[in-house]
Formats: sequence, structure tokens, C-alpha cells
Amino acid sequence: MCGIIGISSNKPVSANIINSLKKLEYRGYDSAGIATLSDGEIYEVKSEGRVDNLENNFDLKNLRGNIGIGHVRWATHGIPNSLNAHPHSSHNVSVVHNGIIENSTILKKYLINKGHNFKSQTDTEVIVHLITEHLKTSDLEEAITKTLKQLHGSFALGIVFKDMPNLIVGARRGSPLAVGYGPNENYLGSDSYALKSMTNKITYLDDGEFCVVKKDQVVFFNENGKKVNKKILELSSDEANYDKGDFKHFMAKEIEEQPITIKTGIKEYVDNLNKDINIFNFPWKTKEIKSITLVGCGTAYHSCLMAKYWFEELTTLDVNTDIASEFRYRKNRFKKDNLYIFVSQSGETADTYAALDLCNKNSMKTCAVVNVIESSIARDSKFVLPIHCGPEIGVASTKAFLGQILVLYLLVLKLGSLRNEIKIRDYQEKIKDLKDLPELIEKTLLHDNDIQAISLTFNEAKGSMFLGRGFSYPIALEGALKLKELSYVHAEGYPAGEMKHGPLALIEEGMPVVVLAPRDNYYKKTISNMQEVIARGAKVLLITNKSKDEVVSENIWETIEVEHTNDDLLPFLLTIPLQKLAYYSALKKGYDIDKPRNLAKSVTVE
Ligand code: M6R
Repeated sequence: MCGIIGISSNKPVSANIINSLKKLEYRGYDSAGIATLSDGEIYEVKSEGRVDNLENNFDLKNLRGNIGIGHVRWATHGIPNSLNAHPHSSHNVSVVHNGIIENSTILKKYLINKGHNFKSQTDTEVIVHLITEHLKTSDLEEAITKTLKQLHGSFALGIVFKDMPNLIVGARRGSPLAVGYGPNENYLGSDSYALKSMTNKITYLDDGEFCVVKKDQVVFFNENGKKVNKKILELSSDEANYDKGDFKHFMAKEIEEQPITIKTGIKEYVDNLNKDINIFNFPWKTKEIKSITLVGCGTAYHSCLMAKYWFEELTTLDVNTDIASEFRYRKNRFKKDNLYIFVSQSGETADTYAALDLCNKNSMKTCAVVNVIESSIARDSKFVLPIHCGPEIGVASTKAFLGQILVLYLLVLKLGSLRNEIKIRDYQEKIKDLKDLPELIEKTLLHDNDIQAISLTFNEAKGSMFLGRGFSYPIALEGALKLKELSYVHAEGYPAGEMKHGPLALIEEGMPVVVLAPRDNYYKKTISNMQEVIARGAKVLLITNKSKDEVVSENIWETIEVEHTNDDLLPFLLTIPLQKLAYYSALKKGYDIDKPRNLAKSVTVE
């Protein structure tokens, strides 16, 4: 999950490469580098850390060349230092790479025997030397075809050549790659986001394809080196969303945007006039579906788990959830009457894509719930339900989570109603309740100073726990994930009823524990579980919803009451204080909130 950019132009390219790399930092930010071609030479600059470091360390304004490639890295092979930063170059070839070359050790031995010298610890360098080797005896297309056939694993590549100063080669297998078209220049990018400030005309490479990008022409080839024709897509422009505005961080902005996220989702899917949900073009008869499998990673997986609770509550469908990295290698029993739903904000997550690909290869019914509609997962699913959140830039997923669970909830309602498992009155009542959700989220967002104060205790603790039952359990997992990824504090999400089977041993005097106990069917049970942790010294932050009945429980450290709504919708509200808790905790620690250490927004490697 690195970011790649390439520009072939009739004017110097380094400034635009730098701008694009800054946009691509959501894919990785361990190191950054550029290679340009000028006067028959490859000029290569690279630095450890962010693109800003690269700018500070080198005089990039004077970096000459009308053609060049750039890279931001999320380290897989070799520590994140400037030596391992991309591009990697031989005397005549320079390469940027996203992905993993699985047979790099064998290839390296073969190339060393042929006299090639390696400078870095990366897998990428074998690509440089393989191409260099093949160019001794083959023309460009043949050398690329031969090289790609020797590589095992996944890759998106940008390649420039000292002896061919007017072109960039792009190639893809597994990892996404797009070509963009501009006036007197053309581009290569690991996604459309990197290219959007320069063009809205895009072509996506398919697996196995490569392309030759010149300033006035782009030619595409299949894996056997035969020319292929490709479609040009026009992208919508949502450039304004890429701005932080008055917010300190994208995450803060994205948390506050959630009422709009939900409003937009409702507008897109809910027909308030007819009290119906506009999911009409479903490509299968609902009777053809007997069971559902939901697949995702991280926060998207928590959305899957949330949907499982709703599906089971409101329909008779059998539902399974799966973490994509597990699903792809298990011996799945594929079933024709099963609907496979893939949930992903980016639509490019490698594990989720591989799970989808596996289902497609087995001719299964596949549906994507995605934010980026131009993404690989959206393009390769048979049915797509976009979440319409607009770009999410903060690495920690916030508004996309709410967007995902909204769309999944609507799908549950729609399928439940089509299968006559939700009574028409209940169906319409639930649709009506949704109307108030944006406002309820807005009110819940007003909890701010209280959460800021509470976050201090979480920062001082060795670790913390997030407990919930039923609908609140996936939210507890999500709250714990947010806290650990942003504030680097150990946090564990757990089913409240499971504590006594082991984790209760972790509870010690003063340990902060978040208990999610809305007034739903699980309320009394969760309150009992809460008392068990309080009795062992835990400092409990209880998050519940407003009610005329007081919370009858003693020794609770802090309570946050979210607004009241129907049980199905409470998870939306419970999520908000947990996002803020993680945000303020990281803010107090001075951590990089939008780019937490070791992570990337779009995880395009296994
Ligand atoms: O783009 P995706 O939704 O497929 O990404 C999945 C996870 O990588 C992502 O949700 C990750 O867990 C977030 N950083 C969590 O905040």
C-alpha cells in the first residue's frame, strides 16, 4: 500500500509529482522519492519520512525533467529508511512499486549470479534488475512482458528508462493502477484521487496489463504484450472535500460531517413519500438468497458484524461474517444461494478484493458496499451499494463506518420487507425513524468537553476495555480499534458477558472501562456485567441513552447519555463518543491523528 505517480509532459514535472505525492500519503508515509529524466540522465531523490522531508532535504524546484515518477512508501520489505525508499534504479532503469514480490529472494540470487549489484533490502529492486537484464536482448514491450511473467505476487509499477526519455511504463497485477489524460501530458497514478487535481479522464488497468505513457499518447498491452483498447471514464469532481477547512484534522472534520453522511445516505436510498427503500435493481430474486456472508477488514469488518445482528433480528436469513484475510485462504463451502457482501471504504483493500475475486471465480452472487465507486471492489462486484460519504482522508475510519452501517441497515430492511419477514407497518415505522437520525447525531456530537476531560484518564492508563452486548458489541470493538490506532493505548473490545471467562483477570484498580449499555433488550444484563468490573476496581465510563428511568447502579465513574431512538439506531449514536474519545486522547498526546504510525489509509498489500 504505497502510492505511485508518474507524469509525462512538455514541461517540468517535479512540482506536480510532489503535489500528487502529498495526496497519496494516505497510502503510506514511511519515505518518499522521485526520479526524473533529463539530459539523458536519471535524477533520483529520496528521503525517510513524509513528503515534507523530501521537500526540505532537496531543492526540488530545480529538479529538471519533463518526465518522472514518484512514490510514497509503506514498508513491507526492509526498514523505512532512505536507502529502501523508492524509486530504485539501475544505471538505466528506475522503478516505483506498490505490492509485494513473493519470489524476490529466488530472483535476487539469479540476478546476483548474472552480475547485478543490489543496494537495498527491498523486494522491488529485483524488478529493476530483471528489466535491465531483459533489455540487453529484447525490445521494450518484450522486456516488460518477460519481466512481469517472472514476478510472483502483487504489483503496480511505474518505470522510466534512461535511454527512452519520452515514456513511462505502468503495469499492474493485484494492486490498482490508473492512467489519466491531460492537456499535453498524461499521468499514471495508484488511484484516481492522486490524479483528480490534474484530470477527470481516467482509464483503469486490469490485472496483467501494462501501458506505455507518453505526453501525447497512451498505449495499453495485455499480459502477452498484445495491444488492447481501453475505455476512458469521466470522474465526478469533489475536490472541495479534500480540504480540512477550519478543522485541525481531517478526522475532526469527518466526525462532524456524520449528520451529512447520514442525511445523504437517506436521501439516496429512502423514498419518504412511499415509505420505501430504493434498492430496486437488485440482480437476484430475494427467494434465491438463503444466507449471507459479510466480508471486510478493520472498521469495515465491524460494520459487517453490526449488519449480522440486524439481519438476525429482522430476517430469518443465516448470516456469517468473515475477516477478509481469513476468508481468502479458508476452505470455504461456496453456496449458490448465498449472497456475499464485501464492505470497504476504499474499495481497494487487497484482502477484501482477493475474497471478492475468489467468490467471482466461483460464480457466486457478489455485492459491494463501498465509498469509492471507481474502486476495484466496486467495479468487480455484481451489485454495488455506494455509501456516498465523499472522500475520507483521515486514516481512522469514522464517517465511512456510519455510512456503511446505514446502507447495510437499509439493505436488511429492504430484504426483510421483500421476504415478508418485516411487517409493512414496522418497515414503514423504521423508515420514518430514520428521518430524525441526522439530528440525533448532531445532538450527540455536542458531547465534547466531557469527553475531552475523560480522555485524560485513558491516556494515563496501561490499557482499557470496551464492553457491550448485542447491537453494542460491534460498537465496542470499533471504539477499542479507534483508541488503539490513534493514541497507541492498548484497548480491548469484548462482549460484556464474556469477561468472566478470562479477561476479568485484567481488571485492576483504576483501569478505565467503557461500558455500552443502551436501554435495549440487553440493558439489565450489561449493567450486571458492569458491576462485575466495578467490583474489581474498574473506572467505568457508562455510555447509555437518555431515558425517563434513572440508571440504578452505583460507583459509576462517568456517564454519557446519547439521545433516545429506536433500538436499531442506537449503535449510530453510541459510536460518536467513542470516536471523540480516541480523537481527544491522541490530540492530548500530540500524535499525528490523520496519519497514525505504521498505518495507511488504503491497505493494498496482504
Ligand atoms: O478501505 P477499507 O474500508 O477496506 O479499509 C479497511 C481497514 O483497513 C480500515 O477500516 C482500518 O481498519 C481503519 N484504519 C480503521 O480506522
